[in-house]
Amino acid sequence: MSFIVAIDGPAGSGKGTVTKLVGQRLNLVNIDSGAAYRCIALETIERKVKIEEKQKIIKMLDDIKIEFRIENGENVIYLNNKNVGDRIRQKDVTQIVSQISSIKEVRFTLNDIFRNCANGKDIIMEGRDIGTCVFPNANVKIYLDASPEERAKRRFKQNQEKGIDMSYDEIIENIKKRDKNDMQKEIGALKQAEDAIYIDSSDMTIEQVVERIVQLIDIEKIKIHKK
Ligand code: DC
Repeated sequence: MSFIVAIDGPAGSGKGTVTKLVGQRLNLVNIDSGAAYRCIALETIERKVKIEEKQKIIKMLDDIKIEFRIENGENVIYLNNKNVGDRIRQKDVTQIVSQISSIKEVRFTLNDIFRNCANGKDIIMEGRDIGTCVFPNANVKIYLDASPEERAKRRFKQNQEKGIDMSYDEIIENIKKRDKNDMQKEIGALKQAEDAIYIDSSDMTIEQVVERIVQLIDIEKIKIHKK
């Protein structure tokens, strides 16, 4: 039986960093669901398909292969046998990914891929609808949040480190637009699951958030062990 930790929350809430650190510490397979949505957005761009051409995007799903691999201890994502880890963080992908993720057929296809990846494994998965939709029976559910300003500040710093050229104003505008779109989705909307634990990381360090989540996972494991 697998043990599943779901980390949901808006863009820039620290999900990525925290998920990676908790996963490494507890030896959990790390699945970044947002990266998979970004792959579909990238493929749309590369095939020069317009965001309005929904049927073409849906058809494209038939010949897309997404794999989560571990290389030198790092999680890497492959799209059709190519490592696209850096490419999917670029501005053109970020600008259309929320709209791509609103297409329900895209969600259904990716949810199947996520569930297959998790089969029989202990995983930690980050996204928007993991605790509400992908794994409603996850063992631990966290909703990680932070103020839009703090999230934009973090993303700005991350982008600078990666050489991605986006101003703070562009980032905060994109974050607010994505939040709105992600929260209003017909399926898989960004929202806190009723049984999720809310953590506001605005005034917390990464280490503090990691400690808190590890503690919550330990408590849950002890409960399962006692049953
Ligand atoms: O976490 P991220 O910024 O890489 O996610 C990219 C986009 O994918 C985000 O705008 C919302 C969407 N997404 C989603 O709809 N459902 C998920 N489980 C994960 C991401």
